Amino acid sequence: MVVQQTRSHFMPATDATPGEMDEMAREHVWAHSIPWIDVAENDGMRVFARGEGSKLWDIHGREYIDGISGLWVVNAGHGRTEIGDAMAEQARKLAYVSAESYTSEPTVRLAHTLSEIMPGDLSRVYFCSGGSEAVETALKIAKQVQAMRGFPRRYKIISRRGSYHGMTHGAMSLTATRNEAYFGPFMYGVSHVPHPNQYRSDFGLDGEAADIMAARYVEQEVENQGPETVAAVIGEPISSAAGVHVPSATYWKMLREICDRHGVLLIADEVINGFGRTGKMFATEHFDFVPDIMTIAKALTSGYAPMAAAVVRPEVFDVFTKQELIGMGHLLTFGGHPVAAVAALKNLEIYEEEGLVQRGDEMGGYLRARLEELCAHPTVAEVRGLGMLNAIQVTSDKATKGKWKKDSKFPKRLTSLLMDRGFITRVTGEVMHFAPPLVVTRDEIDAMVTIADECLTIAENEFASEISA
Ligand SMILES: Cc1ncc(COP(=O)(O)O)c(C=O)c1O
Repeated sequence: MVVQQTRSHFMPATDATPGEMDEMAREHVWAHSIPWIDVAENDGMRVFARGEGSKLWDIHGREYIDGISGLWVVNAGHGRTEIGDAMAEQARKLAYVSAESYTSEPTVRLAHTLSEIMPGDLSRVYFCSGGSEAVETALKIAKQVQAMRGFPRRYKIISRRGSYHGMTHGAMSLTATRNEAYFGPFMYGVSHVPHPNQYRSDFGLDGEAADIMAARYVEQEVENQGPETVAAVIGEPISSAAGVHVPSATYWKMLREICDRHGVLLIADEVINGFGRTGKMFATEHFDFVPDIMTIAKALTSGYAPMAAAVVRPEVFDVFTKQELIGMGHLLTFGGHPVAAVAALKNLEIYEEEGLVQRGDEMGGYLRARLEELCAHPTVAEVRGLGMLNAIQVTSDKATKGKWKKDSKFPKRLTSLLMDRGFITRVTGEVMHFAPPLVVTRDEIDAMVTIADECLTIAENEFASEISA
């Protein structure tokens, strides 16, 4: 399209009308993963202009509640001018140094702060720019450390069914929904084991027994693969992608013991879970275990800058100090970016000043209590979650825990009904997520539940033939 402008073509079209902006988005922005038909049916992509707390406004002035914190990212809420100001000041002072052998003041301060707040002795920080990079880094650390410890054949990684660990090639290889037809063959040596799931156990068991069996399966997999070939086991303490199933503490205790018994490194992916999302600073704290490597991203900066990290324990880093001639076979140009580091530091300062972790936990409890009311719906089977990581199980048949037909349009319709009423969230197959910023208010929670209630009723009426009441 031609936007009327008198200035250079290289200047951004700052005076474009909202209509022109919509059209430019349609013509030039590539929506990251949704099919093009969804963009077209939505009349293009929604272009957002402003945010404040848990609210967003698009370029047409329409107001929305951000019920998923961007993508489990904006924990401290939108519109934090103090973070923006601190970033601007740092950019004026020093915007970049390479991470290859240098670092910067804010990056050092952040690494120190993280070593203070992270569980156990996780204290050596390899900075990256996003969650997938953090997972790639963790994978490479695990493989290189195993080799440097004298086990070069330990290259295999055990991941869990239903899990998501990112979309770069190594991380995607661990992701359960990887697309073999487009991107195979994947990284060699990855296997997927059952995920803890007390709602629909792979083993036909209930409660903790289901989780114990899932943990035993991990050990069986290590033994089947041959412990001398396994580098690491990776999992989110509470996986969003797998459906927000909160495992019993026994599960993680068992995984820690299994990994120790077999010389396997344990990687906790806290890209979503970290920074207060689950009611504690890190979700591993609920389960009282310390992984060998933890990946963090998203709410590390609450989305104000792209930043992530793989953080390891001294005994993992020690192999590099003992074999001092060998470096890590990895380099990321933007790792430890000073402006992003300042965003993270300011974000963590806000956490402390406002008691955000505790606030998120309390408001999460209120949210879950309100969500229980939705269980009166014929399609809502149960409410799950911890802190501000919550979901409802949306089923076509409560009695049999029936799944929607593969081509059912119910989840998509529900998502668009919610969006049209100003509630942004995700309905992924059977699970509808409720994960607003930790600063969400009671009124906003009430509004989300009211909208969800109304939209479920509309969708249930429209799809009555697919639902067994
Ligand atoms: C658990 C987990 N790990 C890794 C990633 C990848 O992060 P990114 O999208 O920042 O690359 C995600 C993204 O949602 C995630 O949920």
